[in-house]
Amino acid sequence: MKPIQIANGIYDVGVNDWNIDDFHGYSTPMGSSYNAFLIVDEKVTLIDAVKREFADQLIAKIEQIVDPRKIDYVISNHTEMDHSGGLARVMHRIGEEKPVYCSKLGAKNLPLHFARKLNYQPVTDGQTLSLGARSLTFLETRMIHWPDSMFSYLNEDKILFSSDGFGQHYAGFEKFDDIIGDAIMPHAKKYFANILLLYAPLILKLIEKVTTMGLEIKMICPDHGVLWRSEPSKIINAYLEWSRQTAKRKAVLVYDTMWHSTEKMADAIAGGLSDEGIIVRPMYLRKWHRSDVMTEVLDAKAVIVGSPTLNNGLFPTVSDFLTYMKGLKPLGKIGAAFGSYGWSGEATKLITRELEGMKFEMLEQVRSQYVPNASSLEESYAFGRAIGQAINAQVPA
Ligand code: FEO
Repeated sequence: MKPIQIANGIYDVGVNDWNIDDFHGYSTPMGSSYNAFLIVDEKVTLIDAVKREFADQLIAKIEQIVDPRKIDYVISNHTEMDHSGGLARVMHRIGEEKPVYCSKLGAKNLPLHFARKLNYQPVTDGQTLSLGARSLTFLETRMIHWPDSMFSYLNEDKILFSSDGFGQHYAGFEKFDDIIGDAIMPHAKKYFANILLLYAPLILKLIEKVTTMGLEIKMICPDHGVLWRSEPSKIINAYLEWSRQTAKRKAVLVYDTMWHSTEKMADAIAGGLSDEGIIVRPMYLRKWHRSDVMTEVLDAKAVIVGSPTLNNGLFPTVSDFLTYMKGLKPLGKIGAAFGSYGWSGEATKLITRELEGMKFEMLEQVRSQYVPNASSLEESYAFGRAIGQAINAQVPA
């Protein structure tokens, strides 16, 4: 695949990773891309590298435009190895004496990834680097997605190179938002819910800062997925909405089951919720990946978690999901627990404790011994209705 010229003298030299299906615990059925950009100006500049195993593909793409030794500057917006893993190999080809501009924390953390010493040049928030006819301004964006993260803004072309921000795990030949259309939005939402949700308050502050600066943005170029050239405000507005965690009248019903008892309860609870007009997403954990569940959690008001009691504890998939969700820190949710048991029945108490630890507003739990009979299914249905009423009381229609 030839490099795509995204603007006059600016190329996408990144690579597609068609086959990745798990990105540190997040399912990526459409693969991903590691975008990198080459700006041909008086000072030829490479923005970001790629994963280590794709370094040669990146170099081959650069070679179609310029001799890599003609690159003067390298910008490293983010230390994580999907963008820096190939850096040492790329620098070997470019020239190890060339400056690698990065944030202060990038300069501290990048050397902890590579044995070879590189010429790291830390930059400060708002610092500008002249490339000749163009200039880059660096914006510190700590924790979006790591402490070292920064964005680089190309002043004359009004292009924001946003590293992980506004990305999607999507490998494809449709490199621009106007080519793929709205089909990219679920991927952007999944990316936000699974990578950035815990930093939502920081994202709101960042968007406010960029707005205050009056930064005009014609194109947003993230390091994953498609580039936002036709309507960058669309993804910025989506980030505002997701960061505010505005909930719908929606409940995620996430559960596992041993002998279908917890499943029967889930079905009855879903009926109760639905009869209160709530959008219900029943998500059986051996069908749905934890990262797909989190995508649904993002705009749901309630998360209702069900588990049978197994050996005095939670079913392992439920523990896995609770651990994953806890790290992503969703805010403002209603929580509830349910599950079947044989004799000891600790699961619902354990779920309640975990959800309370996440500051969920907890409703009562419901349990059923062995196989739920008509009366316990009626109790589960009523439980669903009660949760639905609590949602309706808090979320405007
Ligand atoms: Fe795409 Fe935080 O790395």
